[in-house]
Parts: sequence; structure tokens; C-alpha cells
Amino acid sequence: MDRIRIRGGNALNGTIPISGAKNATLPLMIASLLTDDTLTLENVPHLADVEQLIRILGNHGVDYTVSGKRLAHDTSTGRTIHFSARNIVDTTAPYELVSKMRASFWVIGPLLARMGQARVSLPGGCAIGTRPVDLFIDGLQALGARIDIDGGYVAAEAKGGLIGTRYVFPKVSVGATHVMLMAASLAKGETVIENAAREPEIVDLATCLNAMGARIEGAGTPTIRIEGVTALSGARHRVMPDRIETGTYAIAAAMAGGDVTLEHTRGDYLQAALVALGEAGAEVTATPNGVRIVRNGGGVHPVDVVTDPFPGFPTDLQAQFMALMTRANGVSHITETIFENRFMHVQELARLGAKISLSGQVARIEGVPRLAGAPVMATDLRASVSLVIAGLAAEGETMVNRVYHLDRGFERLEEKLSACGAEVERISG
Ligand code: UD1
Repeated sequence: MDRIRIRGGNALNGTIPISGAKNATLPLMIASLLTDDTLTLENVPHLADVEQLIRILGNHGVDYTVSGKRLAHDTSTGRTIHFSARNIVDTTAPYELVSKMRASFWVIGPLLARMGQARVSLPGGCAIGTRPVDLFIDGLQALGARIDIDGGYVAAEAKGGLIGTRYVFPKVSVGATHVMLMAASLAKGETVIENAAREPEIVDLATCLNAMGARIEGAGTPTIRIEGVTALSGARHRVMPDRIETGTYAIAAAMAGGDVTLEHTRGDYLQAALVALGEAGAEVTATPNGVRIVRNGGGVHPVDVVTDPFPGFPTDLQAQFMALMTRANGVSHITETIFENRFMHVQELARLGAKISLSGQVARIEGVPRLAGAPVMATDLRASVSLVIAGLAAEGETMVNRVYHLDRGFERLEEKLSACGAEVERISG
């Protein structure tokens, strides 16, 4: 199993190209199930989760081809992949596949809308809380689906097709909003979704669906209107930049110190996080093609953050920001409101010398003058990368085990950091 070894202490200086967003790519790939035509996605990142979803979609009959070779020095373009769901051969998503990646549950929306039926395994346990699927079920029922839960599977049926409706989400959910958008695009008549998630990835999916012939208005606001159409066509769509990868390297630069430009991305996708970084003492400026982060001298100031749905501080940057706060010159508090139990990184950060205490949803972090390298491991993607960030500022060697979590969501992490002067290497086997 691969590990990542970090020798802390080097500042980061240079340019880091940001990849296509994992959390946009996954729903966009799933949207290919809505049409018998070809959906072409550009800027698709090389990630384990993308490969896994290719296998899951393949089980339903989706073929894919990857366009040409890319130049070895071309770090910006990602891959172009053509997805074709001409024939859906299976409307069941089995436990063996869905349990490997929670987002694959989302196939329930397009399969039901296009085929009138879907049988999808419940995703099962997840390291960051219970993560139920009640909102998906509720929303699809509102669109007229009949739903039975039996033997660990959600069986959904809408033989005569889905019917437009007005649905108010009792709680903001990114995944359930994605699924409602896809399902309602092929429903009869108009659907109005209230209290929809406003994440940029929702806007990216709506833009792609509209290019496929859907009629969606209001994505990015709490109220989304969808006028159902009878069929969708193929389209070509470029995946948006990864705002979580952007935020992660911005935090890494603030932690290690130095001067880093993040390119092929957009700062306005992560304003809340950039404001917090500014308060922590980093200089954050917009560039024509991304964001520049500078921290020369000066310490890290303590900043309190509360995670919230977009445009609030993203839960997917909470662990990374906590790593930064372990070196602050004072006490900070981080409140996690999206997921229960998303504090698994706390124990591991403590192994590096961090002083963190937990009380319910709130972590109290007392900054320390030094961290010391140690072997660590993490149980999820964002927690793993927070340990890499801590390792950049720790004295001596930090060995991050279970790197497969990182490979799910960060493309060529060790290369991107090394190119800016960090001592980070992958040890295979
Ligand atoms: C997505 C992102 C994930 C991010 C999260 C919040 C992807 C692949 N994943 O996850 O990286 O951390 O948004 O920004 O894009 N909930 C329910 N019932 C449901 C569905 C959700 O109670 O049926 C709850 C969840 O337990 C959680 C909250 O709603 O407390 C938000 O979850 P949601 O926005 O659905 O997260 P995901 O879409 O799973």
C-alpha cells in the first residue's frame, strides 16, 4: 500500500495547476445515463473515484472512450472522455459497487427518469457520519415515484414517467439536489425545487443538462425551476475547476509560508475560505486565471470558522483549516455543522503534537509553536490531506499511511507540492 513521506520545513513557492472538480465530475458522468446520445466531458481529473464510477456506469451499459494522448508537460487540460448510454442494460446498482462510493447512489435519479425503474443499494456505513438518503427518497416520491425499501435496496418505479411538482427540501443536500435536477429534467411539466443546494457543482450540472436540452433556471439560488422535456441529447461540457483542491493548496501555502499561484481555477468559488485565510495572515489576491497566496514571515492568527452549505465555509476544507490552526498564535474554534463525526483527523493531528479538544460539534484548537513529524493515517479523503498539510510544517519526517484515500480526490498531489519546493514523495508498495 502506498505511503507519502513528508520532510517538513520548506516554504512553498511556485505555481500549482488545479484539476477538474471531483464533486462536479461524478454527477456529470451520472448525467450520461439520461440520454442515448454521447456526453463528452472535458477536464476530467485522473482520480480513483472517477475510475470507480466508470466501472459502476459500465454495469448499467455505459460505454466510454478517452480522447487521444495528452502531452507529458500539459498539466492543465485533464482528460476528455466520451460517455455513451445508448442501451441501458441493467437498472440495478448492486451493493458491491454502491458501497464503494456513496455518490453512485445518485444513479437512481436518471435511471428512474429514463427507464421508469431503478433498484439501487443503500450506500451503507460511511466514515463521516450516518449520511442517510431520506431526502432523495422524499424528493423522488414527490415526483410521483413509488418507492420500496427491501433487503438493503431502494426500489423505485414510475412506469408512466415522473410528474413535475413543487418540492421544498427540509434540509440542504448537494446530492439530493443533483438527483432532483436530473430526474425532473425528464419529468412531465414543471418542477420547482425550494431550499436547493447552491454549490457551484450544482450550477455546473445544470449548465451541462441545459446543453443537453434540459430547461433549468435558477441553479445557484435556493429556488430552481425545471421545465421537463421528453428526451435529452448529447453535449460537450468542460468540468469546472476543483474548489476544494484550490482551497487545500491555498491552506498548504499559508501553512508552509511562501508564494504560490493556483492556476486554472476561480477564487469566487471559495470566498468564505479565502476570507478566513486572509484573517489567518495570508495575503490572498485574485489573478486573471486563479488565486495567489503569500505568507512571508508573520505568524498564523487564530480564526474561528463554522462549516455551512455554500456560500459558507465548506465542510470539505474543515480538516485542512484545522491543520493550519494547530500552528496559530492563539486559540481557535472550528464548528462542524454538516456532518456528525467528521473529526477523525483530530487524533492523528494530536500525534504530531497538536492540542485539540472536542466538545460535540466544536473543536477547540490551541496553537502550538512546533509540530513534530510522526507516522499517521486517516480514514477519509479530506482528513488525509489535512495530515499532509500538517506534515509540511512539522519538524522531521511525517509518514502518511493509507494513501488510497488521497488518490480518491487529489490528482498528483506529491508532484504538485514537490514542484513548489516541498519535500514530499510517494513510497510505493
Ligand atoms: C457532497 C459532497 C461532499 C461534501 C458534501 C457537503 C460529492 C461527491 N460529495 O456530499 O464532498 O462534503 O456535499 O458539501 O459531491 N442528508 C440527509 N438526508 C439525505 C441526504 C443528506 O439527512 O437524504 C444530510 C447529510 O447527512 C449531511 C447533509 O445532509 O448532514 C449534507 O449532505 P449532502 O449535501 O447530501 O452531502 P453529499 O451530497 O453526500
